[in-house]
Amino acid sequence: MKYLIGIDLGTSATKTILMNQKGKVIREASCDYEMYKPQNGWAEQNPLDWKKAVLDTLAEVMKKSGILAEQVSGIGLSGQMHGLVMLDEKNRPLGNTIIWCDQRSEKQVFEMRRIMPENEWMQITGNPPIAAWTAAKILWVRENQPEVYKKCKHILLPKDYIRFVLTGEYATDVSDASGMQLLDVKNRCWSDIVLEKLKIDKNLLGKVYESQEITGYIREDIAKLCGLSTKVAVIAGASDNASAAIGTGIIRAGEAFTSIGTSAIVYTHLDEYKEIPDGSLHVCCCAVPGCWHTMGGPQAASLSMNWFEKEFCEGYKEKAENTGKSIHEIVNEEIERIPLGSGRLLFLPFLMGERTPHMNPNCRGTFIGINAVHTRNHFLRAIMEGITHSLADCNNILKEIGETVTSMRVCGGGSRSKIWRQIMADMYKCNIKTINLEEGPAFGAAILAGVATEVFAGIAEACDTFIWDKEVTSPIRENVEIYEKYHRLYDKIYEDIKGDFDLLAKI
Ligand code: XUL
Repeated sequence: MKYLIGIDLGTSATKTILMNQKGKVIREASCDYEMYKPQNGWAEQNPLDWKKAVLDTLAEVMKKSGILAEQVSGIGLSGQMHGLVMLDEKNRPLGNTIIWCDQRSEKQVFEMRRIMPENEWMQITGNPPIAAWTAAKILWVRENQPEVYKKCKHILLPKDYIRFVLTGEYATDVSDASGMQLLDVKNRCWSDIVLEKLKIDKNLLGKVYESQEITGYIREDIAKLCGLSTKVAVIAGASDNASAAIGTGIIRAGEAFTSIGTSAIVYTHLDEYKEIPDGSLHVCCCAVPGCWHTMGGPQAASLSMNWFEKEFCEGYKEKAENTGKSIHEIVNEEIERIPLGSGRLLFLPFLMGERTPHMNPNCRGTFIGINAVHTRNHFLRAIMEGITHSLADCNNILKEIGETVTSMRVCGGGSRSKIWRQIMADMYKCNIKTINLEEGPAFGAAILAGVATEVFAGIAEACDTFIWDKEVTSPIRENVEIYEKYHRLYDKIYEDIKGDFDLLAKI
């Protein structure tokens, strides 16, 4: 029997799975780490924490499985997008990584727009300049930490730093590279025009591969440490969202999924490259060769729920401990008791600024309609609904640009919540389907590894064999009508107060 490994370098944890050639996950391990918020709007992580998490989880799945090192054919990598890992001449990380939800680079976005008109950014990179994407972060470091920039010899995305640790190769894949804003997204290669305009040396960047290509093999020291063989191929892999698409079986035009993790996105597969007017949804290469995808959604999804639970729901932790339930189960039970619309309490989920559908690094989380009758459960439901309003906005854009979504699957921690799936069905006005698997991006990465090492005949063959719908949640007509009213108001409130966020940022 042959085995494959999928590693997903998430924001709250790294998850590593070991699956056999029949698509059965036989071991999994995960390891959490911190996200640092040194200032309002900033977000960082320590790449050495990622390295430890990956090596520990790799060693754990190998040790607990009892399989032989030679039985593993390949490792697929998936990871959080847009982060900036800089290595010095000895390949040491130059401090913490500025990660995907960091919004410090607004000024650099103005500079990017000055250097090249927005329509050219759209034509080449598929997206307008975005503060949270890697290019703007590189410019920020160059301007604010010139001594760090001078020492920088390699620029890598988070999962690609892990590739370097495992193989010693500097490389990336087309889907993750799309989120750097340095890639010619239509032609799937680094853009010389963009690199020249931004004066970024191409030699700093790794080689770009399609997601199912082999980028190298495990180093000897790592193989020893983790119980692997040096013959194990490390596959290009994909961004967490593009990997989740494979792991959710979303690989054909018209198919879409919503993922609810630290951030949330609604993702659609595109067979052909498409520019989205105003850049209100992102367009990136996807892990299926010759295909692309759109994605959009709130930066702070579970991040918002977790923030509120941690800061304001202390009693729930005790309740969870006493009843043997998880804190999320308790929260879901409480939310279910609160009426639709959270008793006229609305939440705009912009805790970490926003990119889609609103390109606004200064906007922030906002509750509207607080009344003395509200309990913290009303706030929790309002947060869940607010995140879904934001996703519904992105889903509506898909309809506006003529993308017919025929199937909407869900994945990510948030999708385990029955109540959240109902809110999604009611706001999207379509069926929401869970699937038979929960490993999303890690499973997708393992499938890509199987395709690269010829364990599987192709992406479609593997997805069609291993992934199927499990449970369907349909919209409830009365709920749809209520949420339509709230949604119109949600959109209006943002338009009414968006200028105030800029004023607030200036204080
Ligand atoms: C997508 C995005 C997030 C991260 C973290 O643009 O920023 O989904 O990939 O998961």
